[in-house]
Amino acid sequence: MNPIRPNWPALVAGGLALTLTACGGSAAAPGATSSAGAQKSLEVFSWWTSGSESAALKAMIDGYLKTSPGVNVVNGAVAGGGGGNAQAVLQTRLQGGDPPDIWQTHPGAAIQQYISGNLLADASSVYTGEVKSAIPAAMVEAISAGGKQYGVSAGAHRGNVLWYNKQLLEKAGVTLPGADYPTSTFLADLAKLKAAGVVPLCLGAKDTFATAELFENTLLGSLGADGWKQLTGGGTGWDGEKVKAAAADTAKMLQYADPDAGAMSWDQATKKLASGGCAFESMGDWAYGELVKNGAKEGETFGYTAHPGTGGSFVAVVDTMVMAAGAKNPAEATAFLQAVASKDVQLAFNKEKGSVPLRTDVDVSSLSPYQQQSAKSFAGDAIVQSVVHGEAMTPQFTQALFDAVTQFAQSKNVDAFVQALADAAQS
Ligand code: GAL
Repeated sequence: MNPIRPNWPALVAGGLALTLTACGGSAAAPGATSSAGAQKSLEVFSWWTSGSESAALKAMIDGYLKTSPGVNVVNGAVAGGGGGNAQAVLQTRLQGGDPPDIWQTHPGAAIQQYISGNLLADASSVYTGEVKSAIPAAMVEAISAGGKQYGVSAGAHRGNVLWYNKQLLEKAGVTLPGADYPTSTFLADLAKLKAAGVVPLCLGAKDTFATAELFENTLLGSLGADGWKQLTGGGTGWDGEKVKAAAADTAKMLQYADPDAGAMSWDQATKKLASGGCAFESMGDWAYGELVKNGAKEGETFGYTAHPGTGGSFVAVVDTMVMAAGAKNPAEATAFLQAVASKDVQLAFNKEKGSVPLRTDVDVSSLSPYQQQSAKSFAGDAIVQSVVHGEAMTPQFTQALFDAVTQFAQSKNVDAFVQALADAAQS
């Protein structure tokens, strides 16, 4: 077993599709100047480039500019769902000593790799009384090391959500899933949809994380939250019977995947669900933001439930911003983290993103019904960390998972798949 068991991995993925763009409407009008007279600047690096992701990033930057008017915010976003491309670009920049001022990451293993590499500035000054007491202790712990805080989390996505197009389910005579939706019923419903001539399962397989997410959610359904914690904590092996059962179920689900999946990103697959081109999608609730952004209406066009077998569990994918050690613009970067911690920015960002504010003192009554129930789930359900989004296992393991999932989607070889995972967990 790997001796380093993080509490909560950068995904070192292939592909270097660098798309540096100026931050359109968010960039400030020239005007703010430093004492030397030059305009102040700040680079914010992320993988938020889909319609809803860009809107949420804009809300975050606009919130910052309210308190820091005139700063020229450079949007360093790199396209690619789940950060596959962005994280590779970031690693190259970090190795080259050219860090962005601010970048997007997750708690747990993801942030810890940067902390242990001495790549982050201490952000403890953001954690004043009000902020610290409003963020769940476990979440503060997950971005801390040696008693210091190194990141500011903007919101919590729920990773284990199953979305569906209502009309398509009705057309195929499929009963809309309730809170307790067993995997066996889901598989039977996928078969019914196929028989009715509907594409049963939306999948944006161009983003490797999307297929990995289908497996992650199915694995949680097989293990339950306690089993998940044991597995990711090293207490049980990745070649156990429940992991094999989850892999076998994932292989069955993949037989119903959109034949065009390989050409689509997660957000294109989500748009296809919204427009009635495919029926179900297992995807974190950034999909909620994307559905709404594309004009789909909660309760009318689409519905949702927890991924089969995962009711009562909340895979928390927590969007977290960090500041580079030796940032080129330290004062601006510190002010940016302070803005991310503010109630106003948490509300505005999450409204677009589909997630819920991390601060428990934010009034969420203006958020959608989906988000309000998600906030309740976040407060009351069993919280587990995501492997796919780098929180629960090392970056090396997550990359091995992505490689194994890509092969498994072709081969459907359960034994080879779990063996690859077990080997990765031991290296
Ligand atoms: C996650 C991230 C989300 C969303 C998603 C799809 O890793 O936490 O904010 O961007 O990837 O790109």
